[in-house]
Amino acid sequence: MAAERIDGKAIADEIKKEAAAEAAALKAQGIEPCLAVILVGNDSASQVYVNNKKKACEAVGIRSVSYTLDENAEESELLQLVDTLNLDSSVHGILVQLPLPEHMDETKVIVAISPEKDVDCFHPMNVGRLTSGLDGFLPCTPAGVIEILKRTGHDIAGKNCAIIGRSNLVGKPLALLMTRENATVTLCHSKTQNLAEVCRRADILVSAAGKAGLVTGDMVKDGAVVIDVGMNRNAEGKLCGDVVYDEAAEKASAVTPVPGGVGLMTVAMLMKNCIRAAKKVSGM
Ligand code: GUN
Repeated sequence: MAAERIDGKAIADEIKKEAAAEAAALKAQGIEPCLAVILVGNDSASQVYVNNKKKACEAVGIRSVSYTLDENAEESELLQLVDTLNLDSSVHGILVQLPLPEHMDETKVIVAISPEKDVDCFHPMNVGRLTSGLDGFLPCTPAGVIEILKRTGHDIAGKNCAIIGRSNLVGKPLALLMTRENATVTLCHSKTQNLAEVCRRADILVSAAGKAGLVTGDMVKDGAVVIDVGMNRNAEGKLCGDVVYDEAAEKASAVTPVPGGVGLMTVAMLMKNCIRAAKKVSGM
């Protein structure tokens, strides 16, 4: 039977609609949710991502203010801007698009963002809260993966979940969230032995390695749910994921496509975090 092609756009639209209702409720109380977006340099992929985030804000009813710093800007200029936004009570969320130019220290910049405004959930304080199971922001892409599974009716509890890629952005926090949802998690990486065998045991297989063609049909268990977090360019320059979609779809019960899958969820979950930040200010 053909695998379900999970429609990330439809799910992201649903979440943005919920966020829009919450934004309207906040506005009725005199609070206009606001996200500050900072882009340093002129990386074309980052420009696209930042524009998508600003467009989503507009659709949801969140005010966005954007700042673009020159590729050669001093790190101190960025830190100064973050500080100003930290102190601005009309700004509820601050997002510094990554990666930063090489001469800047990403950790230093992330730590400079007030944890209350860290809508990416990158600050060590928020990562610590997540690790300890405390209430707080959820990291956007990993939370998007969980929402996809829940909203398509795929149970997580008790399932074997293999995640390929141990980045701070996706793999590591997703392992935490999946564990919180009672999955049995195997976090795979470049040194994992017998990767295909480990993946074949997974009821839920998530690839976040950033390597086109990495996940082939022989790595997929019959009936598994395959979530592709990869964002790569193929030889023709077209956007593609880590998963060979057609091969995976022959074995899996459901697969997320790229584009049209997890990528749109990241932005939708960011909107949720902005609303959360604004609500916190108003004591809601
Ligand atoms: N670069 C790639 N993904 C992200 C993200 O989710 N947030 C930020 N700030 N930068 C990114």
